[in-house]
Amino acid sequence: MPDSPSNSAPDEAAAGSPAPLDPSLFAPGPARDARFVVKERWRDCVNLPADDPLHQVEFLHRQMNEEVNGLECSARGLSDFPEADWDIRMWLARQCADEARHALMFRRQLEGHGGHVGQFPVLNFQYRIITRAETLMGRLTIQNRTFEAGGIDAVSWVAETTRSAGESALADFFDSQLADEIVHVRFANEWIRRRIRDDPRELLRMGATMTLAAKAFEQVMGREATEGVSYPTDRPGRLEAGFTEQEVTLAAELARGHTSS
Ligand SMILES: [Fe+2]
Ligand SMILES: [Fe+2]
Repeated sequence: MPDSPSNSAPDEAAAGSPAPLDPSLFAPGPARDARFVVKERWRDCVNLPADDPLHQVEFLHRQMNEEVNGLECSARGLSDFPEADWDIRMWLARQCADEARHALMFRRQLEGHGGHVGQFPVLNFQYRIITRAETLMGRLTIQNRTFEAGGIDAVSWVAETTRSAGESALADFFDSQLADEIVHVRFANEWIRRRIRDDPRELLRMGATMTLAAKAFEQVMGREATEGVSYPTDRPGRLEAGFTEQEVTLAAELARGHTSS
């Protein structure tokens, strides 16, 4: 999911050193070859401002690595839960194929914009937070129903702004990615709803999983990365992805920074 806020990290000395990440909230990171420098926090990455000539290259590099995270998490869903229903395993296998294609698409875009693999440090927080969850329900709740649902809003916004800027080939690329991400969120939503219908206690477990994931996310991103950064809710996209009208309204209110309750 795009998470490329346009503000840059504050001066390290002024902000002070943050406390180390709480290891109980994170699984070990995925393997990366020697081309990559892996960081733990957003503030330790290169977060170029929107007017920097390399801003878009950095964005494409970041997204490429995030797609690899998506592939790795879906693959872990297959390898860690061999007893899961065939149906959900097929969806996860399809998601692996989609995320691999997205990573390659981003790599082509990155190189087409003059960038290269390993040009910027990367974060693997998605993998470390998602694979920390011990159940497939937890993994799909965090990865598909939360991170990728946020990605629907972000990709939809990026597609629109890219098209307005006259970059129609790049906008088409984001549109095709959006179509796949909607399917990823929808299959997870349908599976999660069936599980809750069969055992309503799953809802409580989902809540507990999300609390831990939110804590971990906050430690990685810090307030400087997330404050004032939200994308407009893609209402039709979220409805197509299996959210109810009520859930979409709540997401839109949260994105605007308030709730009606
Ligand atoms: Fe993707
Ligand atoms: Fe996805």
